[in-house]
Formats: sequence, C-alpha cells, structure tokens
Amino acid sequence: MGNLAGKIAIVTGGARGIGKAIVKKLEEEKATVIVVDKGFESDQLGQKQFAIDVTNGKAVEQFFETVADRFGTIDILVNNAGISTMAEVVEMQEQEWDTVMDVNAKGVFLVSKFAARQMKKAGKGGKIINISSQAGKNGYKYMGSYVASKHAVLGLTKVMALELAADRILVNAVCPGIIETEMKQTERIWGGELRGMDAAAIEAEDYSQVPLGRTGSPEDVADSVLFLASKSADYITGESINVTGGMTMN
Ligand SMILES: NC(=O)c1ccc[n+]([C@@H]2O[C@H](COP(=O)([O-])OP(=O)(O)OC[C@H]3O[C@@H](n4cnc5c(N)ncnc54)[C@H](O)[C@@H]3O)[C@@H](O)[C@H]2O)c1
Repeated sequence: MGNLAGKIAIVTGGARGIGKAIVKKLEEEKATVIVVDKGFESDQLGQKQFAIDVTNGKAVEQFFETVADRFGTIDILVNNAGISTMAEVVEMQEQEWDTVMDVNAKGVFLVSKFAARQMKKAGKGGKIINISSQAGKNGYKYMGSYVASKHAVLGLTKVMALELAADRILVNAVCPGIIETEMKQTERIWGGELRGMDAAAIEAEDYSQVPLGRTGSPEDVADSVLFLASKSADYITGESINVTGGMTMN
C-alpha cells in the first residue's frame, strides 16, 4: 500500500465499471486520482471529478489546463472510457461507426496527446495505459466498429510507445476479455436479439468460453493496470496484456 504516493493520475470513464475499479485501486496505493466521465451527474462532481466528453478536443485541452493549475503535472493516464454497439456490418449505420470510433479511438488519441505534451514538458517521464480489449486482437461477429476501434487503440499504443520512449513515457495497453459490467450486460441483451437467444443463454455461453471457468471482474482488470502503473513495469513499453482468463492468448 502507498506505492503510488505523490503520483497524480487521470482515469477516463471512471464513474462506473472497470474505470471505477481502477480509480479505487490507484487511490488505495495513495495516488491522487482525477476522474473524467461524460456520465457524471452534477452531485457526483468535485475537485477531482470532471464531466467531460473525451471526443471534444477543445474540452479536453481546457481540462488539461485546469489540471495543470490545480494539481501540477500528471504521472499516469488511464484511457478507459469506451462504448460498444452491435450490428452486422452490412446493416450498420454510418453514424454508429462514427460514434464508436470517436469515443474509443479518437478519444484515446485526444486525451493522450494533451497528457503526453504535459509529461514531455515536465521531463519526469510517465505512464499511459490504454484499455483496449481482446476485440483489439480478434474478430467478433456484430462488433465491426468496436473491433476496428480497439485494434486502432493497440496501433496507437505502439506508435506512442516509440515516439515517447526517449522522454521515458511508457505506453501500454490492457486487453480485457469478458468482464461483468453494465456494458457487458447490455451487450448480452443486444447479442440475444441478434441471435434469437435470451441474455441468460448468452451469459452461460460466455462462461463456457473462458478456460479459467469464470468471467472477469472489474478488479481483475484494475490489478493489471496497477501493475503497469507501478515501478515493477518500468522496463515494459508498447506491450499489451491480456486479462481474459485464457480466452485470448495472442
Ligand atoms: N466489460 C467488458 O467485458 C470489456 C471487455 C473489454 C474491454 N472493455 C473496455 O473497458 C472499458 C470500460 O468498459 P466498462 O465495461 O467498464 O463499460 P461501462 O459502460 O460500464 O463504463 C464506461 C464508462 O465510460 C464513460 N464514457 C463513455 N463514453 C464517454 C465519453 N465520450 N467521454 C467520457 N466518458 C465516457 C461512461 O459514462 C461510463 O462511465 C471500455 O473501454 C471497454 O471498451 C470492456
């Protein structure tokens, strides 16, 4: 406990699900954690909570100015905000493609860009951790926009790892498998509609696909983020870690 004392971290999409578990783990290690989420209600906002849409470049830029004034230079960025939709590619609306790519790919680019600028200027290195998915490594039916966006995140992770290495800014990704969150519950309902099954049958199928015999928790993912944020991962960059219970091994 206390391994991240004195560190300043930003977690996007931190109001619920995996992001919320990441915030908790980083705080347990005594980091100061700034949370960005489009879905924050006004009564959830405070000095460290910001209701920002990661697809809005102007808002993201202004947010980093506020962070610099209020907290100083950040040490850790976790790009976790993400959305999913489901449709066969031949049925997919252009708007659906754009929305998913905007949040999952452009959002990571925008937030990383301003974070890395700040880290470079401060000259003390840093960590950027992107939450991709096993959908960043494999194809899944009905998830064309999501799969494309998560592959994009892994590509950007590698490029930024190269571009920022000389500044000791390490850029890595985590690829979760099936994790029990509101996003996953909604996907089971959509998947059921598309495949003529009920959500419970999809859930049973999910379990049967995981070699370790259970789906993942948000804490399972948060633990790998904590590892990448820690000193124990100071010689790892441009890497992606599968947190899938053995479902994905590539
Ligand atoms: N749940 C899974 O099985 C799973 C698997 C692999 C990867 N992931 C990824 O993990 C991340 C978190 O997923 P989750 O399951 O916790 O989802 P979730 O829907 O439960 O939570 C996502 C959070 O991101 C926020 N958000 C969405 N769009 C935003 C935007 N434009 N700007 C700011 N905040 C925004 C939401 O308000 C929400 O609080 C996502 O990137 C997701 O793609 C999830």
